[in-house]
Amino acid sequence: MADRDIGSLVAAMTLDEKLRLVRGRSDPDGRATGYLPGVERLDVPALRLVDGPLGVRDGDSTAFPATISLGATWDPALAERVGSALGMEARSKGHDVLLAPGVNLIRVPTCGRNFEYLSEDPRVSARLGAAYVRGLDRRGVGAVVKHFVANNQESERDRVDAVVSERALRELYLPSFRAAVAAGTAAVMAAYNRVNGRYMSEHAGLLDGVLRDEWEFEGPVVSDWWGTHDAVAAAEGGLDLEMPGVSPLARHATRSHFVRLVAQVDLSGRLGVDPPLYWRPIDRWVAEDGQPDPYPSSYFGDDLRDAVVSGTVPEGTVDRMVHHVLTLYDRLGLLGGNREDAGSVDVQAHHDLARKVATRGTVILKNDGLLPLSGDESLAVIGANADRPKTGGGGSSEVTATRTVSPVDGLRDRAPSVHFERGVPPVAEPSALDVPGRNWLRRRLSPGDRDAAVSAAARADVAVVVVQDAATESEDRESLRLPGGQDRLVRAVTSVNPQTVVVCRSSGPIQMPWVDEVGAVLVTWYPGQADGEALANVCYGTDPGGRLPVTFGHDFADYPVADDRRYPGVDQRVHYDEGVFVGYRGFEHRNVDPLFAFGHGRSYAAFAYEDLTVTWAGETPRVDLTVENIGDRHGRDVVQVYVSPPDGPVERPPKELAAFRPVSLAVGEREQVSLTLPRRSLARYDADNGWTVDAGTYEIVVGRSSVDQRLQTRMTIE
Ligand code: BGC
Repeated sequence: MADRDIGSLVAAMTLDEKLRLVRGRSDPDGRATGYLPGVERLDVPALRLVDGPLGVRDGDSTAFPATISLGATWDPALAERVGSALGMEARSKGHDVLLAPGVNLIRVPTCGRNFEYLSEDPRVSARLGAAYVRGLDRRGVGAVVKHFVANNQESERDRVDAVVSERALRELYLPSFRAAVAAGTAAVMAAYNRVNGRYMSEHAGLLDGVLRDEWEFEGPVVSDWWGTHDAVAAAEGGLDLEMPGVSPLARHATRSHFVRLVAQVDLSGRLGVDPPLYWRPIDRWVAEDGQPDPYPSSYFGDDLRDAVVSGTVPEGTVDRMVHHVLTLYDRLGLLGGNREDAGSVDVQAHHDLARKVATRGTVILKNDGLLPLSGDESLAVIGANADRPKTGGGGSSEVTATRTVSPVDGLRDRAPSVHFERGVPPVAEPSALDVPGRNWLRRRLSPGDRDAAVSAAARADVAVVVVQDAATESEDRESLRLPGGQDRLVRAVTSVNPQTVVVCRSSGPIQMPWVDEVGAVLVTWYPGQADGEALANVCYGTDPGGRLPVTFGHDFADYPVADDRRYPGVDQRVHYDEGVFVGYRGFEHRNVDPLFAFGHGRSYAAFAYEDLTVTWAGETPRVDLTVENIGDRHGRDVVQVYVSPPDGPVERPPKELAAFRPVSLAVGEREQVSLTLPRRSLARYDADNGWTVDAGTYEIVVGRSSVDQRLQTRMTIE
């Protein structure tokens, strides 16, 4: 539909009809996470939005590996396939929009939602996030890229003010959103937090200035759930759609723990936990227009109507908001009934894709030759939760899987004998869907016996210890240490059997005090429903190809944010004093050696890199090199090109990732790899002059991680 036609559709609406399109309601079927009733009189249908990003949060769906696992594949083609599969599942359940992907940069290693994000590097996040968006778009499902922007911690996320320089925003935090917009995201979700003093749901500078004027984004900006604070400020600041409406209590009470409790009750109702909205039965909250609505009084309901009627907000502002919302409708083919059929879901094929991503996202951090296993070894599989798959962390991204394979089951399928021992009581898995007392009960019923685990390890050829952290939306992890005595368990096991593989199911970096004592370490992140199958694949010889999308420090003190001002902030202000020196940029800048560097990951093959050249195609440098598999097994590698800038007027990271490409090589195979370095990868952002490429000599480094350099050359820019 042409812009003009959307304009006439808006012109035909009454104010009340317009307001139906700028404020979410409860889905009458109780399945969507967000719902717009549409305007029947004008053939504008209802719109259904669902979480995202690890799977479709409505009934049984494929529980894909956590987003960080996708980040660890460094493979945009795979991210696009996941997006497309999710799009198909969303459509098959009648949803139009997926509240995904999460592309916030990993700044704080303990952030509770790191598992929902891709990387600490803007280029990895941008390329994979954009591919995920394209995949959804291919199925006619709208992406809602989230959470825009500087939502890098969960501590006090609903009010914290991120005090961040324009340079750091431009160079680090914005690029993944810009890429999602360029890739066709249908909507953008404003983050809960403030940025430089303003709530993101009211941030005209970033919403109107950057998103609309600079990036020419035409769809709606959606609030995060209960993330709107004021009708006039939000409407004038660039927010188009309030989600999901505001509970009257939460709205009128002052902010307090009580209010947060109320919000949680709301959350449990939204998630369909019994008893839903028990103290506010849904049928008592039927708004005048007949739409069931547990939140009858919201900012973009009564308040916005009052503001328009009194002339505080011009009706043209509401028209503009509705125009943005209808642009999304139009993009999805919802106006005029020209929507293509989504096709049907092949549950097995999606399980296979989940397994592929989990396998490919696995990072071999260390291997003293213990892996791959030959297939003859007896195994002791030890771990608090090793008999359960790890399908994700807690919060709005939780998915009910179509089927699951635990590490114990996956390994049992391949090993001649497997003896399972928990060793320690189950580690609590935070869950918004949790039945109170479930974790307590599990710990009581299966306490775990460390002595039994140690003697099983002593008897087996190889011990596989499966450890995990406990991460959830709404709070950050307390530290990088593994909870529940798991470190002691690893040490006890390895003291009787050094042939120990530690499998880390983690949301991000963890501490590994035992790393020197064990034979091999795998990071499988939260591997999703095919957990155990992927683990068995890697243990028995599939070269995974995963590379760290985030630096693993020895402990929290290694990270650039290890300072109260920087994290968790002081007086609800978090100062991004480290500027652009986040992740490996910060480690290198301060000369801190990581435990495992960004980009690191071992292979069962061995690779030789040769013949590095740089040529120019107009303004753009092109890097060519040859990679050869000189090992004796098939292998996957990720070619990583870093650029070190010349000395210039401001300090810059010693090295930044400029381009990358995953490759898959048979024994003896050689591949010529050509990579163009985007102009921006050479540039820095200058508050006065914008993107600036300094003259001078740039080092081009091809490495197998940010610290493992294989080839190097230079190029000069006049
Ligand atoms: C989260 C969003 C999510 C929304 C709806 C919020 O708490 O921050 O990521 O999409 O809830 O569930």
